[in-house]
Amino acid sequence: MIAVFGGGGFIGSHLCQRLIDQGKSVVAVDIDSEKIANLLSEDSFTFHEADITDEENDELCREVIKEADVVFDLIAYANPQQYVDKPLEVVELNLFENLKIVDLCEETDTRLIQFSTCEVYGLLGNRDDIVFSEDSSNLILGPIEDQRWIYSCAKQLLERMVHAHGQENQLQYTIIRPFNFIGPQMDYLVESPDEGTPRVFASFMSALLFDHPMYLVNGGTNRRTFTYIEDAIDAIMLILRNEGGQFDREIVNVGHPNNEVTIEEFANRMRTIYAELSPDGTLPELRTISGEEFYGEGYDDSERRIPDTDKLQSAGWEPRYSLEDLLTESIQYYIDQFESELDVQP
Ligand code: NAD
Ligand code: UGA
Repeated sequence: MIAVFGGGGFIGSHLCQRLIDQGKSVVAVDIDSEKIANLLSEDSFTFHEADITDEENDELCREVIKEADVVFDLIAYANPQQYVDKPLEVVELNLFENLKIVDLCEETDTRLIQFSTCEVYGLLGNRDDIVFSEDSSNLILGPIEDQRWIYSCAKQLLERMVHAHGQENQLQYTIIRPFNFIGPQMDYLVESPDEGTPRVFASFMSALLFDHPMYLVNGGTNRRTFTYIEDAIDAIMLILRNEGGQFDREIVNVGHPNNEVTIEEFANRMRTIYAELSPDGTLPELRTISGEEFYGEGYDDSERRIPDTDKLQSAGWEPRYSLEDLLTESIQYYIDQFESELDVQP
């Protein structure tokens, strides 16, 4: 049995679906099941609606982990708005609550696949190389008052603790550092910008569907490498298979190194593809805004991050979705969703 903590989230829902498709038995734990509603009736799928911060659920977590062959831990606050708005809760959940899962895996001798983040690499600083390698790149964060880095810092300490548990107590683990996965079921859509701040793809998709401005934070000059969720799940499945123990106690970047764009270019590509797929829709304006105005005080940002994917490639992984392909797939999904919701409205 495979346990997926955070199985109701964006990555978790796609992972659970793939595991079920491949005939695995899956137990998911999450506070939310909306994105996995289609799996709830599957015989090989068990869902526990449970908040892991609630002590009443400690025994449930222990039982699930004890029964599992492998544990995926995806539970976290993963949205930059939250890093600025509630930094203490981010550390509480992303570090301390996750450590409880680490301890249980150690206690029960269960393999842990821990989700971290490419945000641990942080800022460019004075690096020579902009391609980040898991075991040699430095992790460079900004000053304490730039609260955004608290997420990265909590994830970094979690990684260091997992590593130490492996070194001192023989914990079997693999740490995954995702690079901006996008695709269907990502975050949530907002009908107007004051309803919330989902991550960039969902934010721009909302602007396209509900015709409000696409905000380019600090001019949209920072860059990201975007990875389609299906490519990401292929990589995660290879890590799960772990042939010959190749991912034992390894940290693994999961990202598409060739899909790099500035956020401004990303917005423009989304506009162009949306106009092709939905020719009757109007296109929203692009508007520049400061990071402080958009997210609040304490926002800072990674300028650029490209993954070194040698570890995955030597295991046979090649991403299949170019930026054009992944945007077309993702935008079409949301157009279809939007139209089907309009159809059912009275
Ligand atoms: P997500 O927010 O969609 O998923 C997180 C899930 O955790 C949610 O379903 C949420 O309901 C659940 N959760 C939160 N608090 C909980 C609690 N107290 N008890 C039980 N469940 C709880 O995020 P995601 O994009 O799927 O990310 C999953 C993991 O991958 C996170 O650890 C995130 O930091 C990491 N990550 C994701 C990306 C990405 O590209 N999506 C990039 C880097 C890192
Ligand atoms: C994300 C989150 O921290 C995590 O989900 C995760 O760990 C990681 O990075 C990842 O997905 O790999 P970030 O990439 O900054 O951080 O989050 P996004 O909201 O996707 O923003 C990407 C860029 O777009 C940032 O420069 C941001 O300022 C910009 N942005 C975002 C806009 O210009 N407009 C928007 O409406 C939203």
